[in-house]
Amino acid sequence: MSKEETKKKITKDGLKSARQIFSYIKPYSGYFFGALTLLVIGSVLMMMIMGIPGEMVNAATGAETRFPLNLNQWGVLMMLILALRALLSFVQTILFANVSEKGMADIRRDLYGRLITQSMDYFEGFRVGELTSRITADVEQLQSVFSITLAEFIRQVLILLFGIVILAFLMPKLFLIMLLVIPVVVVLAMTFGRYIKKLSKERQDQLAKTNVIVEETLQNFSIVKAFSNEPFEVNRYSDSIAKMVGISLNFAKVRGLFFAFIIFLLFGSILFILWRGAFMVQNGNMEAGSLLSFVIYTVMIGGAIASLGNLYTTIAGALGATERVQKILERPQELSSEGTEEVERIAGSVRFSDVHFSYPSRVDVPVLKGVNIDIGFGDKVALVGQSGSGKSTIVRLLMRFYKLNKGEIKVGDTPIEALDLRSLRRSIGLVPQEVILFGGSIRENLLYGKPDASDDEIIAAAEKSHCWEFINSFPEGLDTLVGERGIKLSGGQKQRIAIARTILKDPSILLLDEATSSLDAESEKLVQEAMDELMKGRTSIIIAHRLATIRNVDRIYVIENGEIAEEGSHMELTKKEDGIYKNLAKLQFNLSE
Ligand SMILES: Nc1ncnc2c1ncn2[C@@H]1O[C@H](COP(=O)(O)OP(=O)(O)OP(=O)(O)O)[C@@H](O)[C@H]1O
Ligand SMILES: [Mg+2]
Repeated sequence: MSKEETKKKITKDGLKSARQIFSYIKPYSGYFFGALTLLVIGSVLMMMIMGIPGEMVNAATGAETRFPLNLNQWGVLMMLILALRALLSFVQTILFANVSEKGMADIRRDLYGRLITQSMDYFEGFRVGELTSRITADVEQLQSVFSITLAEFIRQVLILLFGIVILAFLMPKLFLIMLLVIPVVVVLAMTFGRYIKKLSKERQDQLAKTNVIVEETLQNFSIVKAFSNEPFEVNRYSDSIAKMVGISLNFAKVRGLFFAFIIFLLFGSILFILWRGAFMVQNGNMEAGSLLSFVIYTVMIGGAIASLGNLYTTIAGALGATERVQKILERPQELSSEGTEEVERIAGSVRFSDVHFSYPSRVDVPVLKGVNIDIGFGDKVALVGQSGSGKSTIVRLLMRFYKLNKGEIKVGDTPIEALDLRSLRRSIGLVPQEVILFGGSIRENLLYGKPDASDDEIIAAAEKSHCWEFINSFPEGLDTLVGERGIKLSGGQKQRIAIARTILKDPSILLLDEATSSLDAESEKLVQEAMDELMKGRTSIIIAHRLATIRNVDRIYVIENGEIAEEGSHMELTKKEDGIYKNLAKLQFNLSE
């Protein structure tokens, strides 16, 4: 019972979102209504053409007709109307394409704009493949509706209506027999269609899941190899495919049943009418040409009904896509959420007061439990602590990737919630733990820090970060492609690129999440020098795993279990009896000495 209710509701929501999607067509309504007009005229012309064979038979048999034309005149008239109809169809196709292509491009643009401006916790709730298919598969479905299906739907409805009017006028007695059949077919089509929509959605969802496996494993190809998990992935994929085949076959069965029913009713009724009509011709109650016309129109009406069922399912399927697309379009953007205070360059002091936090995806696991950190402008502090203790989380919160549960973070004198999000993030430079470069040239990757940087600026930043040495050694220099189809950079090289990018951004607050992967002594020295260069004159927070890199910072915070367990300078902390830092330092420096 409750299931029935939700099903109804989905249909209603689908129609509601369809209305909103139609607002994307509005700017192109000139094309749209132009195309519709041509569609109507074209359909009328087609109905006229289909009446001509019957009239020709009547003219040939010398029967009495309403139109006193001879066979030649009928032939010429038919060809003329046909040519006009062909021309209209050409223009109409182009007009509809204009609406669908431009309207869907607008939807895609908005959709992407919404996706990319969502908050982290929204993003983390999905697999990337799922979000991708909203913008590819779902919009594609809408596109085909607006370019083909909708026009075809309207055309068939017109044929149905005109056909019925003509038949009712031409042969009311036979028409009454038809009238008994049509409503049955329509009702059946509607019920079936609803069920088919559900199956189509199920199939679409399963397809998306299946594609996610392909996407993720191809993206992480080397990891699959490293774990020798090819057989595992193949199994996972074939299971998913098998499920999809199951759903698809079920879908096909229902669709097949649908067509079988329609075909039986359709041809059954046509043959029945022919049979009755033959009697009428025999009795002299009807001309042979009129019976031919009747049959032609009946076939057209039957065809219209059959294809309407099919088109209905396509449109119903597209409604599902519309709903999913609309859900994303409706979501508020992260930037518009709150905070309006715009600052050109925020003063770089940072204060965490009693910050409590758990990730939205795991609200019951507290990650930070009352963190207090106080960093003066230009200070350098380090965060150390075990893996998973919450160091990267502290950095993410400062960038306002997530909302706090309790407490406050201030930069300068302003709570970060009050700041315009763009101002805040523009003032913070993050060199993440894992550097991922975009596919493209090295120059493009560097420009990500400052899109309007000149080549001189780029080179200066590359020199400061010790990137220039290796960039210059590539034959194509800054235009060397990196990423999927380019060359592979080493971990240390990528880090230095990330540092150069951040130098170009010129933030007042710097967040360095040190990579756990250890570099060789030479690269480490280069990266360290690059970092020192970057930190000059900026408030810096360094997350360090190798204590050797942070001996000179102003203050060290030891994070344990989501709390600040110890704080002080390297000297102070190493003096602390049985301190966490002291033990850590003993371990690391003994090992390295
Ligand atoms: N996006 C996320 N969603 C849910 N939980 C997360 C998320 N990111 C991290 N966590 C959890 O929060 C805790 C702290 O993670 P965090 O990344 O801050 O650790 P870390 O101190 O930086 O560790 P490491 O030294 O290994 O980088 C961990 O228990 C982790 O499982
Ligand atoms: Mg981390």
